[in-house]
Amino acid sequence: MNIQVVQNVQDINCNILVVNQFEGEKTNNEIANHYAIDKDGFDGKFGETYLLQTYDKVPASKILIIGFGKKEEFSEDRFREAIAKAVKKSMQMKAKTVAFSLDGIIFDYSEQFVYGVKIADYSFDKYKSEKKDKIETVFVQANQAIVSKAEIVADSMNLARNLINESAQVITPQFLADVAESLDLDVRIYETDDIEKLGMGAYLAVAQGSVQPPKFIHMRYSCDNPVKKVAIIGKGITFDSGGMDLKPPSSMLTMKDDMSGAACVIAAMQAITKLNPDVEVHGIIAACENMIGGGAYKPGDILTAKNGKTIEVDNTDAEGRLTLADALCYACDLGVDEVIDIATLTGACMVALGTYASGIMGNDENFVKTLIETGKKAGERFWELPIWDEYGESLKSSIADMKNTGSRWGGASTAGVFLKKFVKNVKWAHIDIAGTAYFEKPQKEFIEGGAGAGVRTLVKYIAG
Ligand code: BES
Ligand code: MN
Ligand code: ZN
Repeated sequence: MNIQVVQNVQDINCNILVVNQFEGEKTNNEIANHYAIDKDGFDGKFGETYLLQTYDKVPASKILIIGFGKKEEFSEDRFREAIAKAVKKSMQMKAKTVAFSLDGIIFDYSEQFVYGVKIADYSFDKYKSEKKDKIETVFVQANQAIVSKAEIVADSMNLARNLINESAQVITPQFLADVAESLDLDVRIYETDDIEKLGMGAYLAVAQGSVQPPKFIHMRYSCDNPVKKVAIIGKGITFDSGGMDLKPPSSMLTMKDDMSGAACVIAAMQAITKLNPDVEVHGIIAACENMIGGGAYKPGDILTAKNGKTIEVDNTDAEGRLTLADALCYACDLGVDEVIDIATLTGACMVALGTYASGIMGNDENFVKTLIETGKKAGERFWELPIWDEYGESLKSSIADMKNTGSRWGGASTAGVFLKKFVKNVKWAHIDIAGTAYFEKPQKEFIEGGAGAGVRTLVKYIAG
């Protein structure tokens, strides 16, 4: 789909003209007011729509009124959701050209308009014989520079969604490495023997139960005189069976999504190369599968991470933190100022926050706050969870420096305390997207499947 910025939206010859209506008010279109409000009692409730034939009274064939709800309850989030709704309605009607005439909105809607349109336009139908009908062009009056930038971000988000929705039989560690290498960046892939030399014993243990070899991926975006250096780390478990502590079938069903953090990092790096910020950015993924082959690691095994700390395996299904532990050591050794990791890490985070917010915690109050605020502007929700030392009590081991799991209670925070043991000399934030990475049924502007969680926020944080 392409988005065309125009001046006089009402004059466009198109299949559908979308106009907005706040609850109890009128639209900026005479015909719409005449029929919908005066005759049929449509009153602009949030998310409700009303369709009109125009009988050649305006260039558009049909007018779709979209309810924006009460003006005092309106927000950027509501706006994006309403735009997505209008796009989905237009797609159902097989429209090829859709113009938006938007009125009475008190903020610059250009960025959220693009997100709403592009999130709703997404489908994953490559394996379906029958493809979805697509809109060809959307017309809108908006700020061209903001639209162009948001298009880069939204397209990257949809790349992440493709990677997540694709099956684990396709998305292997090698595949992720190939995607990373296809980007316009310096990319280094570490093979098994390189990873051994780096001393990443925790990560290697997780990988050893699979026939797919691990790939440690390091993408680097550099620029002259960077104002700071940031590393973003994505959990890249291309399939999580649970390992010897095998998951029950219903929990395993969506575990192709356990590389959503990696998808987010690849997507963010793609957008960052196009946006050229004055920041040095390292994208890091310790990719592997968590499987049950004959060589698989076992409960009771003792692993040595890159920083020399030893870990007693309490549960092979707590594999993400083991791969992240070594990735965090590697990132801290790069001499960066800030490290952000993003991971489908704990079912406990999903139990706490559901699918409506990602969990966030870290070692620097202001850093975490800034990321939460950036998320609000980008259209993503983050909720801070505690990372008090007490949550680490249950990680104590009698024979190693720590175990990889502890108490069931407060599991998202326990995982956070575990990760913190591998962080040194940097500002660090950990984002848990277990609940937000993948929707089992449609939610707001999203269809079911991968959501591209984190992409908009990471890109906005790094590239404005
Ligand atoms: N990948 C899962 C976490 C997950 C659960 C993501 C549900 C998305 C949806 C992770 O590797 C895992 O298995 N975590 C365990 C940790 C436990 C063994 C301490 C969990 O949350 O059950
Ligand atoms: Mn697991
Ligand atoms: Zn996992």
